[in-house]
Amino acid sequence: MLGQLKEYLQGLGAVQIIRYINEKFGHRAVFSTSFGIEDQVLTHLIAQAGGQIDMFTLETGRLFTETYYVWNRTLERYNLPIKAYYPQAALVEEMVTKKGPSSFYESVENRKECCFIRKIEPLKRAIQGYEIWVTGIRSEQSANREDMGIIEWDEGNKIIKVHPLFHWTLQDVEDHLKKYNVPYNPLHDKGFPSIGCQPCTRAVLEGEDFRAGRWWWEDKSKKECGLHVTSK
Ligand code: ADX
Ligand code: SF4
Repeated sequence: MLGQLKEYLQGLGAVQIIRYINEKFGHRAVFSTSFGIEDQVLTHLIAQAGGQIDMFTLETGRLFTETYYVWNRTLERYNLPIKAYYPQAALVEEMVTKKGPSSFYESVENRKECCFIRKIEPLKRAIQGYEIWVTGIRSEQSANREDMGIIEWDEGNKIIKVHPLFHWTLQDVEDHLKKYNVPYNPLHDKGFPSIGCQPCTRAVLEGEDFRAGRWWWEDKSKKECGLHVTSK
């Protein structure tokens, strides 16, 4: 199935990809939103297509106030259910009791532990049983992502991943938001091109790359939380 789907989707634009998945897969496909600008474009496209694709967000417990704001605006505007996945309370309690609330600054190992508890474990539950997982990944976001493609097989999670905005530029995303007056995170206008958890995201400076503000204290090569692991 992957081969055929790949061939078909490669030639389509984002609007057609979403329409196709919405029609052919419907509730067997799920979209993960972090309420970043790319995800807001996709929410808009899914709503336009009829809103059959399920949606979820990983509520890590450490999000920005502005992210909750755009989450609410999104519910008001599109009136589509967005399922919230929380980390398992016992795991968070144990980690924070043992290491305090900011252990992620102390070592890469601690940071990965926090990302595992707050994102990866909930993600596994969120995509369980689905055939397709739609994300807002774009090729120009990082060198790591350049060789991914619009559609790929995620061996770790045993699911087909589709990135409909893969070839979009930041300008394309911003133009779409503006054209359709899509609600977006106000932090975006304050120098945050990529927004994750509040303690692990800062604004970027002129000329810095998109992801420079994510886990900014870490070495560049380690800066992925593990949600999107490539096989390369
Ligand atoms: S991350 O791996 O660095 O955290 P990034 O912020 O670039 O990911 O977002 C890429 C895609 O991952 C988003 O478009 C979205 O589909 C998914 N994603 C990231 N964070 C979350 C989240 N908290 N909840 C749901 N999906 C998310
Ligand atoms: Fe924890 Fe930071 Fe990872 Fe969020 S981004 S889960 S706060 S380490």
